[in-house]
Parts: sequence; C-alpha cells; structure tokens
Amino acid sequence: MPDTHILGIESSCDETGAAVVRSGEKILSNVVFSQIATHQPYGGVVPELASREHLRAIVPVVRKALADAGQTYESLDAIAVTQGPGLAGALLVGISYAKALAFALEKPLIAVNHLEGHIHAVLLEERQKGNHEVKFPVLALVVSGGHTHLYLAEQRGDGWSYENIGHTRDDAAGEAFDKVAKLLGLGYPGGPVIDRLSAHGDPHTVKFGPSQIKHRDRNDRGKPRDANPRFDFSYSGIKTAVLRYVETHNLKVAVEERRRALSAIAKPKVDDYLSVCDRETLGLVASFQRAVVEDLVEKTLVAARAYDVATLFVTGGVAANQELRTTFENRAAQEGLPVFFPSRPLSTDNAAMIAAAAYPKWLSRDFAPMDFSADAGLQLQQL
Ligand code: KG4
Ligand code: ZN
Repeated sequence: MPDTHILGIESSCDETGAAVVRSGEKILSNVVFSQIATHQPYGGVVPELASREHLRAIVPVVRKALADAGQTYESLDAIAVTQGPGLAGALLVGISYAKALAFALEKPLIAVNHLEGHIHAVLLEERQKGNHEVKFPVLALVVSGGHTHLYLAEQRGDGWSYENIGHTRDDAAGEAFDKVAKLLGLGYPGGPVIDRLSAHGDPHTVKFGPSQIKHRDRNDRGKPRDANPRFDFSYSGIKTAVLRYVETHNLKVAVEERRRALSAIAKPKVDDYLSVCDRETLGLVASFQRAVVEDLVEKTLVAARAYDVATLFVTGGVAANQELRTTFENRAAQEGLPVFFPSRPLSTDNAAMIAAAAYPKWLSRDFAPMDFSADAGLQLQQL
C-alpha cells in the first residue's frame, strides 16, 4: 500500500489547525494557531470573533503545515476537515476552505467528526510509537471544553463504530474548569491554571457533597440492572457550589483584586498566580479539581467494568490535566486495564487528529459530497 498524505483542517472552536499525516500513523506537520489572546478579555470564546480569527489564520496555517511537512498541494491525496460538533460559524471557515482546495486540486474531501478526531489522536500516537496492539473493545473518555462523553469504540474492517454510553447532562468538565477559574478571577482558559495551582493547595479544604458532583442515575440503587447501563456526568452543581463558597466565605473582594492584578500581566506565570491566591483559595481550587477528577475516573472505571472493555482512552483538552492522568494511571493499573492518553499537544484541539481519523475513511472511500455543510450538534454514529 503506497503512502497516503492527508491534509487535516480543524476550526471547530478557538484553534485554527492544519496538519499533514502519513497513512494515519505519522505526523509530518501539526500547526495550531490559538486564539486565546483574542478571547481572554471576555473570559470565554466569543463565536463571532472566533470565525473572524479563523478566516485570518486559515491560509497561513495551511501553508505552514504543507511547508513543515515538505508537501505541496499537488502531493496531497485528500483534504479532511472537521464537520462538527462545534461553533457553526467557526466550522464553516474550515469547511469552505477545505472545499475550495478539494475542488481546485480535484482531490477527495473527507468530513470528520471532531470527537472521532480526539479518539484517533490516541491511536495516531500509539501507532507512531510502534504500538499496533491496542486491544478492543476500547472505552474512550472524551473530556474537553465542550464534551464529557464516554464511547465504546470498535474497529470493523477499515471503518470504526462508536456507541455513546454516557455524556454530561449539563456542563462539560472543561467548561466547569473554565467557569470556576473565571469566578475566582483566574482568567481564561481555566483548566491549565487550575491544574498548576492545585498542586499548591490542600484538596481536603472543601468537601463537595454527592449531589454537587454526581448525576443522580448513579444513586438509583436497587433498580433492576439495565442491560445497557448509562454513565452520565453533571458538573454544573459543583460550579454553583464553588460560587456559593465564594459568597458565603466573603471572598468576592479578594476575587476582584485578583482579577485586576492578573489582567495587568500579559502572560501570568505560576508565581504571579500564587502571589494573588491565599491558602483558602488554593485549597478551594485543589478541592474542586480533586472532586472532578475523582468523578471522571470513578465513573469511567465503573463503566469499563460494566462493559468489560480491554483498553481505556482518555482524550480531549482536560486529558492534559496532570492529576487526571496520574489518578487514571494508578486506578487503571489496579484494575489491570491499559490506559492511553495523547501527548499534551494532541490532547487539546489540533488537526493531526482530524487527518488521522480521516485515514480509515480514505481507505473505504468514504468521501464527503461537495454540498455537505457544518453540523454544530453532530453526533458520533451508533453501533
Ligand atoms: O479539546 P479542547 O482543546 O477544545 C474543545 O474541544 O473543547 O479543550 C479545551 C478545554 C478547556 O475547557 C480547557 O480549560 C481544558 O480543555 N483544559 C484543561 C487543561 N488544559 C486544557 N483542563 C484541565 N487541565 C488542563 N491541564
Ligand atoms: Zn476538542
């Protein structure tokens, strides 16, 4: 089988990405232009601004991806692009550009589900390391700013199929990190800051009760066992609990002072954050992270047992979290379950994962028609 070079394009949220991947197993280039600086003053992604920034970045980002890979437009075999889920206006930029390229170059166009991309980020890197021995079925936790989903994933011939066995009923885990950071005056995005600060706080400072973190399905003891049990998540309660804590412990003035101090620093470092956080705030942050990590790990492992899976994948932006990685590694090892994460650059949004997820579709000639469009709420296909 000759080598296949697929150009992947990703523009579902606030990262413009382009990458060239060879035969689904070797990253030749992976360029990510992050819009964090644009959205930071607003404390979250502003959809309208995201579309404009994608429009600005898409051409230079694709050009750089080709140059880094030593490829030309002509040497590509196919163009792959994220169809959804994501912000409609942001998706449209990547899709329009991918369509124009495919049309002008007379190359096949491949539409990829962003969540499938996150799952294939793990497979891509394992193959790149020479590990072709992933055992099925796989249970994949996709945990990011927009999603907290559990999928059973299986390879069927060249293709893949996925079954959703759980998702968040309200906020995604990454969204909770971002909202908690915002309400504590720690800026945007919240995940990386809370990750670094939690190491300096006592995670026993605040005890979050089960009603603040657990979806109630889990407490439905005594009910007959469902043949296809679900493992849903819920993170809006814990965010509200943090807000309550701030209000009842009179932390609001300190939060405002912190917000002001940090907004005056262009790129705050850990020491800058530490200098504006007291012990109680660091403890609150560490307790929040511990509660979310415990819930994600515990629920995923219960689901893994219920569905008797052979392998765990943990992927998406929140998979970059250090405590989540260590806790998963320790607990999965106790259960004798192999657990794989992407490297940190491939955990957050990128286009290499889109090009990798497109490769099985290229093999099965699963090409997108020229009239396909963005689908903001696109689901992963069912088994
Ligand atoms: O996968 P991603 O780049 O975009 C989406 O598809 O949503 O994930 C971004 C999310 C944000 O909510 C961000 O705060 C979170 O991932 N995140 C983290 C960490 N790094 C990024 N959350 C916890 N710990 C981290 N180290
Ligand atoms: Zn993502």
